Amino acid sequence: MSIELSARRADPGTVDAPLLIVALGPDAVVDGALRGLDAAVSGALGRSLIRRDFRGGRDESLHLAGGTTGPQRVLLVGLGKGASPLDAIRRAATLGGRTARRMGAGSVAFWSPALDARGVEVAAIGLAAGSWEFTETKTAPPADERRAPLASATILVDDEKAGAEGIRSGRALANGYALAKRLGMMPGNLCTPDYLAETARDIAGRHGMKATVLGRAEMEREKMGSFLSVAQGTPQDPKLIVLEHRGGKEGEAPVALVGKGLCFDSGGISIKPAQGMEWMKFDMCGAAGVLGALEAIGELKLPINVVGFVGATTNMPSGTAVKPGDVVQAMNGKYIEIINTDAEGRLVLADVLSYAARFKPAAVIDAATLTGACVIALGHTATGVFGDETLVDEVLAAGKRSGEPGWPLPLWEDYKDLIKSDVADVKNSGGRPAGSITAAMFLKEFIGDYPWVHLDIAGTAYAESDLVILPKGPTGTPVGTFFEFVRGRVS
Ligand code: BES
Ligand code: MN
Ligand code: ZN
Repeated sequence: MSIELSARRADPGTVDAPLLIVALGPDAVVDGALRGLDAAVSGALGRSLIRRDFRGGRDESLHLAGGTTGPQRVLLVGLGKGASPLDAIRRAATLGGRTARRMGAGSVAFWSPALDARGVEVAAIGLAAGSWEFTETKTAPPADERRAPLASATILVDDEKAGAEGIRSGRALANGYALAKRLGMMPGNLCTPDYLAETARDIAGRHGMKATVLGRAEMEREKMGSFLSVAQGTPQDPKLIVLEHRGGKEGEAPVALVGKGLCFDSGGISIKPAQGMEWMKFDMCGAAGVLGALEAIGELKLPINVVGFVGATTNMPSGTAVKPGDVVQAMNGKYIEIINTDAEGRLVLADVLSYAARFKPAAVIDAATLTGACVIALGHTATGVFGDETLVDEVLAAGKRSGEPGWPLPLWEDYKDLIKSDVADVKNSGGRPAGSITAAMFLKEFIGDYPWVHLDIAGTAYAESDLVILPKGPTGTPVGTFFEFVRGRVS
């Protein structure tokens, strides 16, 4: 169930809501709209500011009892200082939404000083993110122990037009994020390549897009020996999914978004250790990002052409699986020596990147949970960004706007030596040194004649432990980066 988002002109002091979330910075004082709220809570707001019980710091929160009229409860959340104002609102709204969900508030109102359309948009995204939970594969608790899910949020604004505009885009993005997170959280036995294809068809049906799905037989015809080498160990049919949003001028070169969709990555014959292997259901978060972004782009009917590509399969050991030492030929003709069957994402993406050239894209951005090395380099904080310099800058800026920071890493020719093979044109693993760079260098061998950026989201696509605003599990990255990039290219 997705949260109902709306905006309206109302005074925080008189709004009738089970919970009012108020996001304030470190220099907050009781004036303007806050006077009415302070009166409604019998001066408790002013007293907590004066006593410095609440200081408006990042991730800080304080609960106030409501009065007899107006909001029944009030939650103050801090905006902190230093972060960009929009990042601060998004984060505070997420914390507020998360707290409301745990309380079982059911519905909330949200207020922060001087919200414009973008402020409303990020507040909506944050509240939705905080409300998000995955309960599909759990039995519901008995009725008397249940708490109401956070079903609706109203953002209080001065300017109704800005409010409506912010809700429209915020809702679309929230839906895109929710879709991506749901796919990420779904176990590998339910979120299969078939299921991703079905999801793409569903998005296409709802938003007037075109979905095309290639299976094993079609990929064999296209001579996608690299992608197919990963899929040869599984009886499940691999899928190359193409989802076309034609919102722009006819014939205008599309933006291409490409996602790694490993519905489960066991490592194959180069099998991973058992400890933590269950996390590898998240190895399709690049694909989830593509589908989530297209959901948002479709819902907003952005006037631009965008084509999403998903390479979906599972990487399994079996009697038919590809072996270390095998040599396969990719769609673009290049021979690949497979050193490590666990370096499978790049094998899948190689053929998808070649295939994308057929659509004559204006730019191609791929996202993949590609290397453990990227988690070592940048942790769970920044996405690794590789590729053509001007496009890298554009993608970094989009990541910044969406609160999904990226950081550039080099693709110098010297690194290519690490993936030279004795028997083939290139090998699929360069070992441990510069592991995320050599993975990107490998991808570069298969791109077409288009500007290209690769995002390594291995660290940023999911959280391994519960963080203040982020529950353990999928984060929704790179939905925001993809969406902001595309929106930035409109007009
Ligand atoms: N999906 C993994 C990368 C990964 C690891 C993502 C940990 C998130 C957390 C990828 O397919 C993989 O196994 N990469 C190998 C490459 C190596 C064999 C060259 C890795 O990173 O160890
Ligand atoms: Mn792997
Ligand atoms: Zn993988």
